Amino acid sequence: MNLYGRDFLKLLDFTPQEISYLVDLAGELKDKKQKGILHEELKGKNVALIFEKTSTRTRCAFEVAAHDLGMGSTYLNPTDSQIGKKESIADTARVLAGMFDGIEYRGFEQEIVENIASHSKVPVWNGLTNEFHPTQMLADLLTIKEHFGHLKGIRLAYLGDARYNTGNSLMVMCAKMGMHFVAVSNKKYFPSQELIDTCQEIAKETGATLEFTEDVFAGTKGADVISTDIWVSMGEPDEVWEERIKDLEPYRVTMDVMKNAGDKAVFMHCLPSFHDLNTGIGKDIKNKYGLDEMEVTDEVFESDRSIVFREAENRMHTIKAVMLATLKKD
Ligand code: CP
Ligand code: NVA
Repeated sequence: MNLYGRDFLKLLDFTPQEISYLVDLAGELKDKKQKGILHEELKGKNVALIFEKTSTRTRCAFEVAAHDLGMGSTYLNPTDSQIGKKESIADTARVLAGMFDGIEYRGFEQEIVENIASHSKVPVWNGLTNEFHPTQMLADLLTIKEHFGHLKGIRLAYLGDARYNTGNSLMVMCAKMGMHFVAVSNKKYFPSQELIDTCQEIAKETGATLEFTEDVFAGTKGADVISTDIWVSMGEPDEVWEERIKDLEPYRVTMDVMKNAGDKAVFMHCLPSFHDLNTGIGKDIKNKYGLDEMEVTDEVFESDRSIVFREAENRMHTIKAVMLATLKKD
């Protein structure tokens, strides 16, 4: 498997074999990390990390992984760089590609990261756009594989806003890997028909199935993984909260949902999550709308069914795999 020089912009650009390779490489890198085996395989290289939206996991994962691989990293925060304001994306991409060996970009439309990649001579990695969150998917795959021992045939039910980065990406992930994807939501929040059609074509090759239902109990019955995401994503206006709460409250992940799924079902979430009142936004929503919990109850989040912190740790190992595979010439 040779991914040297490739961009990592969305899972649609990769074959199931390439995705499996990255997940398995991440598993090997995790094993080395746990054993304390140092391997600065990319010593002397440098990466630029552009964040036009905030981040905890993705930023830290890139920085720690770069350091473990012997690389330097430069973080450009959402306000301090010239990107898009005083300097075009195309010019920025060409400037950074002259100084760095790889570029991570988190921002708004997918076309921006695609544009950066088309103007960059070094690999570009998507750290989240409105449409896709591909590095999160590698972490989810590693976590599911660690827990269940395999990927093919796993049934993943996603509750909530299924038409944004996480929902879209989980559907693509399941289609590529021969898994069963169920979007369980108000039909306003299903992925676009165009993306569904693309995924249905992929599913014909891989044996995956895709379902879309508004019925929580039918949709989650027998699921191996119950997954959700926040109801309002970064970059969306505050005004959408009221409608979102009304539309998505029936799709909160509760213990009844977990019980309906069955004994073996686990809970996953890319994080951050509003499962209690210990966040600023959580408190605001409580004041305005009286909600104590949003997309998932605290009971589920804190239960032994929840594998969200293992999932978060796996962001680092999988991002390390992406950088190693695309930057190391064999
Ligand atoms: N899951 C995820 O991307 O988290 P951050 O926004 O903290 O990077
Ligand atoms: N859908 C969320 C994912 C955060 C990791 C957002 O875009 O804010």
